[in-house]
Amino acid sequence: MKRRILKIFKNIAFVFLITCSVGCLNNIEDVTGTVQTNVSFSADVQPIMQQHCVSCHNNNFANNNFNATSYESILSGSGTVYGNQIVVPNEPDQSGLVDIIEPDPESGLQRMPTGGSLSGDEIQIIRAWIREGAQNN
Ligand code: HEC
Repeated sequence: MKRRILKIFKNIAFVFLITCSVGCLNNIEDVTGTVQTNVSFSADVQPIMQQHCVSCHNNNFANNNFNATSYESILSGSGTVYGNQIVVPNEPDQSGLVDIIEPDPESGLQRMPTGGSLSGDEIQIIRAWIREGAQNN
């Protein structure tokens, strides 16, 4: 009897371990795309914004005052919560734009894009663009 309980207990522990590692791997996968260099705003960053963000952050309707349509609007620094910290050139880890696309944003806002997530490579493109000075290139 004792052995049987032990066996059941072991099985539960095993299932828990598997579920947890799958969950953790998923999280890691989100932010471990290939590190990028020589990123261009127009060729690399803008297409990501167009595809995943502009539908809710545009000239007519900008959720939380963030407008993703152009270089100028992204850099305008007028977000409701992040203010002028949405893009801090050279500092991806201080930029709201990075905080909000990675798991569990420190700001407490929901992760963007709502209802989905960017791929690891897309996140790395945005990180690289900011790291390289957030240029209009
Ligand atoms: C389906 C609509 C939708 C999409 C798509 C979307 N957002 Fe948002 N966004 C919102 C909403 C709603 C909020 C407010 C979130 C909250 O209150 O937690 C928000 C808030 C934000 C903020 C906070 C601004 C501030 O300072 O308060 C940023 C930055 C942002 N989004 C960036 C993005 C980016 C980058 C993408 C694309 C990767 C994106 N969003 C895609 C709806 C959207």
